[in-house]
Amino acid sequence: MTTQRTATLSVEGKTAELPVVSGTVGPDVIDIRSLYAKTGMFTFDPGFMSTAACKSAITYIDGDKGELLYRGYPIEQLAVNCDFLEVAYLIKNGELPNKTEYDEFTTRVKRHTMVHEQLSRFFQGFRRDAHPMAVLVGVVGALSAFYHDSLDINNPEHRMISGIRLIAKLPTIVAMTYKYGIGQPFMYPRNDLSYTANFMYMMFGTPCEKYEPNPVLVRALDRILILHADHEQNASTSTVRLAGSSGANPFACISSGIACLWGPAHGGANEACLNMLEQIGDVSHVNEYIKRAKDKNDSFKLMGFGHRVYKNFDPRAKLMQQTCQEVLGELGLENDRLFKLAIALEKIALEDDYFVSKKLYPNVDFYSGIVQRALGIPTQLFTGIFALARTVGWMAQWTEMIADPEQKIGRPRQLFTGAQTRDVVPLGQR
Ligand code: SDX
Repeated sequence: MTTQRTATLSVEGKTAELPVVSGTVGPDVIDIRSLYAKTGMFTFDPGFMSTAACKSAITYIDGDKGELLYRGYPIEQLAVNCDFLEVAYLIKNGELPNKTEYDEFTTRVKRHTMVHEQLSRFFQGFRRDAHPMAVLVGVVGALSAFYHDSLDINNPEHRMISGIRLIAKLPTIVAMTYKYGIGQPFMYPRNDLSYTANFMYMMFGTPCEKYEPNPVLVRALDRILILHADHEQNASTSTVRLAGSSGANPFACISSGIACLWGPAHGGANEACLNMLEQIGDVSHVNEYIKRAKDKNDSFKLMGFGHRVYKNFDPRAKLMQQTCQEVLGELGLENDRLFKLAIALEKIALEDDYFVSKKLYPNVDFYSGIVQRALGIPTQLFTGIFALARTVGWMAQWTEMIADPEQKIGRPRQLFTGAQTRDVVPLGQR
């Protein structure tokens, strides 16, 4: 019989025996759910530096080894051997599909790529120059207004069809957001194309002439989607889980994830990184910006560098750099100015003790902007592509949370530092 391992916490005469729990891999956890009852004290962990908020079996990251596993499979193998919908099936269901399962899944997704015709009217309310993420937050959240038939989160069929609808419709909505911004007509999905080829068709095709996506570029974008599909309990996934813990419908939860992803410290970093490279402009200016990034009094940070978990390289950054080289090669842009600047910036930064000592390495966002720019995707839409891919992870994490029997509504406490009880003095006497 295995004995329960415990951690003993003694404070001011009170002692709490707290269970220690192991997962299949990674750090053990101390279950502190009984801490407040036993000691009258909370833990304090702004930013959740040392806090596991849930159990999950979806994605595992080893920050020291630079490992990323989706359902146990290394990202390096998935990026080479699978396409995005195969990986979406894996993340969603826990196993890679066989051919029959793959064909059924892709057919089911294709049956839901169109959006309700009324939805296209939502775009008319936005300025043409609205940031795409503002549009996506609004339009994706509005999807819940169209699916009153499947908003019961406790019904597994409703959870399943909502997941399929979101995976299928995000490419259509992202492409519509782009078309609206440039004043071109929306392109209806083409079910004869693969998921990612269809997305490129809806983005860059027009009613005026035939458009067949370049298969090398389709494969590159498909790999970019794989690299962004899920990533444990990052800020936007935690937002989706917290929103879902109140019983909110999945469309509203995904919209909250898009809002959180928009931030430049998170998914907005790819857009910020490309703007930063444009701002640096030339290798001769790199040292000036490295100096600024190291200056505590300067808010400038090297966008695309650093990560809460990866304290070695981000495996996605390496794969993204390779994809970047493939795309630039296919397009005859090997001497792309920004790519060469990024390579130089990475080299100089990684030879600088500040970055090495703080374990700041390029993350997924460092090269993704350069390759998306080469694919013809506008800078402001980079995070929209990130959201498109991460919808797969968000839906899997949301589904896992809803199905977790231990799940309760998320309601953190606080360390209160405000005023103690005091009496109101009537206005005339203040
Ligand atoms: C994503 O969590 C995920 O998994 C996210 C993500 C996903 O797939 O979901 O991987 C996607 O969001 C990637 C990260 C993209 N963000 C950026 O590239 C923005 C630039 N990076 C930083 O803002 C920062 O590195 C974070 C936000 C990514 C991580 O911040 P942490 O873990 O809170 O670390 P920190 O800010 O406390 O930094 C530690 C030290 C600090 O210096 P000290 O106070 O210790 O002296 O490193 C410094 C920071 O000032 N630092 C940087 C830096 N990043 C951290 N200094 C210069 N440039 C940077 N980029």
